[in-house]
Amino acid sequence: MLIDTYKRPLKDLRISVTDRCNFRCTYCMPLDEYEWIDKKEILTFEEIARLAKLSIEFGVEKIRLTGGEPLVRQDLPVLIEKLAALEGVEDLCLTTNGALLSERIHALKDAGLRRINVSVDSLDPDKFKRMTKRGDLNKVLEGIFAAKQAGLASIKLNAVVERGVNDDDIIPLVEFAREHGFVMRFIEYMDVGNANNWTSAKLVSKKEIINKIHARYPLREVGRDQGSAPSVDYEFVDGGGDIGVIASVTEPFCASCTRLRLTADGKFVTCLFSQLGHDVKALLRGGANDDELRAFLASLWQKRADRYSVERLEAMKSASYDPKSHRKIEMISLGG
Ligand SMILES: C[S@@+](CC[C@H](N)C(=O)[O-])C[C@H]1O[C@@H](n2cnc3c(N)ncnc32)[C@H](O)[C@@H]1O
Ligand code: SF4
Repeated sequence: MLIDTYKRPLKDLRISVTDRCNFRCTYCMPLDEYEWIDKKEILTFEEIARLAKLSIEFGVEKIRLTGGEPLVRQDLPVLIEKLAALEGVEDLCLTTNGALLSERIHALKDAGLRRINVSVDSLDPDKFKRMTKRGDLNKVLEGIFAAKQAGLASIKLNAVVERGVNDDDIIPLVEFAREHGFVMRFIEYMDVGNANNWTSAKLVSKKEIINKIHARYPLREVGRDQGSAPSVDYEFVDGGGDIGVIASVTEPFCASCTRLRLTADGKFVTCLFSQLGHDVKALLRGGANDDELRAFLASLWQKRADRYSVERLEAMKSASYDPKSHRKIEMISLGG
């Protein structure tokens, strides 16, 4: 087991399979053009599976595929099959914007995918299009219901809440999830990347989100799954299911963060707000053997000292926080 400088073990691996995306969500990647990663720099499925296998040896139990939009990566089920076959993977999950889900769900499930998170920030088609700049809500809903029909074990719906934009969608989203048996997860708007022009005025806090829902559908706190999940979960007192809130800004969970990220171009990143990654692709393509790769991974995790969200909250309290002063890797390259 690997432990970092704050005694946090390595348990989760988030793999970004591409930086390309068929949406341009205003809170993530609003730019139409961007310096996209050159195709030959993107890790192959064999390279990803090799790194995943080594990280499992060090304690990784959960693997999440993300992006960019993971479903735009060709032949993704081939990778899922490789990862699902690795001994020690307890949980293999995918985060998607859902636009291509209805066409791909059977191939994904047949390959071994059991859990899925679909991002849906509004049930108003016009607002959905404004927020994603090119998304078709009907296609996404079709994908969500196709996943339900296919019998996936768990379907979670993610919504980033932005003040003045979709805070009035909280209750409709909750009602939609309750009605259809999905788990709704609200995400505080974070200052990821540099392109989204985040300001704290756009943030709707977990407290505000929970109060709003609780006033209509009383909630009981359940806590974090296994004590370390990003989401704080709640159940409806009337038995209508569960919801969760990811409060990275107002209730940072750096102390229990066990996540390592692998970018599509082969960099290990130890924090969502990192400025730089650790280039493992150079080693892979330079002919490194497994022991050399293990040593690289062990060394970077043992040196890990990230606690960005805690520091941000401290700075926000003293009004000295300027998100632009800290250049970060874009979320679209990093994987959420
Ligand atoms: C980067 S996306 C990648 C996967 C996929 N394209 C999707 O949208 O689900 C992963 C998650 O990050 C979330 N996200 C993106 N930008 C965010 C921001 N500024 N604050 C909070 N969450 C954000 C998205 O809503 C999504 O749930
Ligand atoms: S949140 Fe997902 S769908 Fe939206 S731009 Fe980012 S990667 Fe694309």
